[in-house]
Amino acid sequence: MAIDALLSRRTVRQYTGDPIPKDQLKSIEKAVLHSPTARNQQGCSYVFVTNKAKLDQITAACLNAFEPAQREYFETRPEGEGTRNKITGDAPLVVFVHTNERASPPFDKVDAGVAVCSVCVAASEFGLSTMIIGAYKAAEGEWERIIDIPPKSFVIAVAVGKAIADPVLREKGPSLAKVTFIE
Ligand SMILES: Cc1cc2nc3c(=O)[nH]c(=O)nc-3n(C[C@H](O)[C@H](O)[C@H](O)COP(=O)(O)O)c2cc1C
Repeated sequence: MAIDALLSRRTVRQYTGDPIPKDQLKSIEKAVLHSPTARNQQGCSYVFVTNKAKLDQITAACLNAFEPAQREYFETRPEGEGTRNKITGDAPLVVFVHTNERASPPFDKVDAGVAVCSVCVAASEFGLSTMIIGAYKAAEGEWERIIDIPPKSFVIAVAVGKAIADPVLREKGPSLAKVTFIE
């Protein structure tokens, strides 16, 4: 059930790297294309990257753009232990959601967030874990060169894959956000 998927979801940063079967990829693609968008403007496009060399290139561009302390953080964080690609955690798929020529503020970034959520929920249907990746923002100037995303797009990525057994999960702590019911 969707509620179970939402309540059991955690960010996973260590993946087996096993490729995702084609039919599952297709379902995730359908789910993301079905996402609602403000005024049905469909101001986001999606790049599904399963090419390991490309993912390594993007990660390298990002690590190079980081400040030294941020780079060290990603290279040594315990949640990434045993992984080769320190940003994707060796996920076999990273979906890049980016604004396109139809995007119009202020809701274009909301549309991107909704699309990311569609990817996460669809992935859970197949027992796949996810990690939203905002860190790739550091590679901003490199999108066009590496994966043909137009310059100046807003980009948010989500890694998808089979988690390793007992991945290191970050302490979540109590909810700081509040919900108010007005009845
Ligand atoms: C917009 C956004 C960007 C994020 N960027 C990253 C990231 O670059 N790297 C990372 O490891 N986790 C990233 N996360 C995951 C958060 O760190 C994670 O959701 C948070 O710590 C709560 O943990 P949970 O997802 O396990 O509940 C991001 C999450 C969101 C929503």
